[in-house]
Amino acid sequence: MCGIVGYVGYRKAVPVLLHGLQRLEYRGYDSAGLAVLDEKSKKIIVEKQVGKIKDLQEYIWGKEINGNIGIAHTRWATHGPPSIENAHPHTSKSEAFAVVHNGIIENYAKLKDELIKKGYQFKSQTDTEVIAHLLEEYYEKDLLTTVLKVAKMIEGAYAIGVISTVEPDKIVALRKGSPLVVGIGEGENFIASDIPAILEYTKTFIALDDEEIAVITKDKVEVYDINGNKVEKKPFTVKWDLVAAEKGGFKHFMLKEIYEQPKTITDTISGFFSDLNNPVYNEIKNIQNIVIIACGTSYHAGLVGKFWIEKFVKIPTIVDYASEFRYRDFPVNEKTLIIAISQSGETADTRFSAIDARKKSAKVLSIVNVVGSSLSRESDFVIYTYCGPEIGVAATKTFTAQLITLLLFSLKAGLERGNLTQEEFEKYYNDIIHLPHLVNEVLKQDKAIEEISYKYHNVKDFLFLGRGLNYPIAFEGALKLKEISYIHAEGYPAGEMKHGPIALIDENLPVVCIVPKDSLYEKMISNIQEVKARKGIVISVSDSQDSHLLSLSDNIIKIPSVENENLYPIVSVIPLQLLAYHIATILGKDVDQPRNLAKTVTVE
Ligand code: AGP
Repeated sequence: MCGIVGYVGYRKAVPVLLHGLQRLEYRGYDSAGLAVLDEKSKKIIVEKQVGKIKDLQEYIWGKEINGNIGIAHTRWATHGPPSIENAHPHTSKSEAFAVVHNGIIENYAKLKDELIKKGYQFKSQTDTEVIAHLLEEYYEKDLLTTVLKVAKMIEGAYAIGVISTVEPDKIVALRKGSPLVVGIGEGENFIASDIPAILEYTKTFIALDDEEIAVITKDKVEVYDINGNKVEKKPFTVKWDLVAAEKGGFKHFMLKEIYEQPKTITDTISGFFSDLNNPVYNEIKNIQNIVIIACGTSYHAGLVGKFWIEKFVKIPTIVDYASEFRYRDFPVNEKTLIIAISQSGETADTRFSAIDARKKSAKVLSIVNVVGSSLSRESDFVIYTYCGPEIGVAATKTFTAQLITLLLFSLKAGLERGNLTQEEFEKYYNDIIHLPHLVNEVLKQDKAIEEISYKYHNVKDFLFLGRGLNYPIAFEGALKLKEISYIHAEGYPAGEMKHGPIALIDENLPVVCIVPKDSLYEKMISNIQEVKARKGIVISVSDSQDSHLLSLSDNIIKIPSVENENLYPIVSVIPLQLLAYHIATILGKDVDQPRNLAKTVTVE
């Protein structure tokens, strides 16, 4: 949830660290700090600020901090509230060691007590500070050996970066459970929580695996396992460019990412077809049941995916929150396929559920956006979505890419299992390739959606309704709205409304109804009538011209008609993304970095 960046090389460290932090800010933004080894004094200089990276930048502006090696951190508070004392980096008693840390040290209280007995004084309430003091306490002429020793004392999931005055030419980085990549440059090297942080400087990376430690100098990167044995790592290169990680003229990343969807859908379709030999299509012939696990928006993609899998692959499928699946005794065996969906590939609950299921002999297919992420490496099979970096905390382009991937996977798996003919498969494909154009058509409704947003931005609650393939889209619309505007919103399968939520409806409640001209259209119309009969405000998202729907609706957001009703969820979610975006911006909320949230949830 926090973000780490580190630099060693020929440049001044401070600008590199600040740029890196800016790109990592979506991971946490309550306070930030950096530590640089000053070339003159040979001491570690630490600067911290509460607030956003720009607050740290303004604070540092004009200060002379000259050094070519440093570490930095943007924080999402777990232990102790946001404050200068609790911001990272944390230093040891003599200030010879500085540490940045993403994750949680579960046994920190016990370690802290022991250190206090040994005379250490703590300046912060964080779990991280124990690491700095432990390094000082156990330092034995070699930083690597010391970090290995400390790694065996601390429990939990973490990624750590260390610099020290005693070995001033290196960063030592350790990963157990939280993401960490090493960026390889020429005469310079980097560490970061994720790739976009250092994409400006390199496209070559090493992904550290759990319990691996990297010793990084400006000319060399060496990786060791937890027992100190050297590990050979194969670097990989990414095709993402820096432009993809910048706003490119849009006011917010979220808006840019919404508008990127015609392209990301095209890229994901092409990526899918370049991977038709994925061994998962052979494995699917042996599978008897499927469990989809994911969190948040990725979970909503899974709910839609279940419809397609059951229809085309004809294998019973359940969808579960990864955070729930993990803690119940769900029977799995070698004929179970777990589909783990995650934009980041770092969500702790999704990863650990997949790892546990694999231990019980299930096969794991992950659908992931971030190349080289933990989940992708921990799975039997991977299908990537091709969205480039998604920076806005609210997932948008990765959601539609997950949907298209699940649809294509279902069709291809259905073909392999003999449920579809090649001809039928191609017919679906011919419908699917129109999607980028259809999404472009929806984007043309942006102005109309903004006007509707002005009408309703002051309400306290919203309800979203949909049926069949589109009920998870109602969930997604509600999640988008609440996470960035802080307006309470609920998504419901429309048929469930009369079993409780109907009590909420009055003349002040906007009800967003996803009502495409599909096989459930008439049922949805009946539900809208029920809303109208209780004076609810109806905002319909529809391709219907039907006068009955028009008379029931206070507002209509038009979507294009599709040949094949399986495509409706991908088209109908776009207006809901725009609605949430506009309402949140009208309310003056920080849409890219909503309060209390982090893009990647690496804690359980
Ligand atoms: C989406 O808008 C959210 N910010 C969040 O629900 C997200 O989808 C969830 O945390 C899962 O993340 P993942 O896809 O990276 O695993």
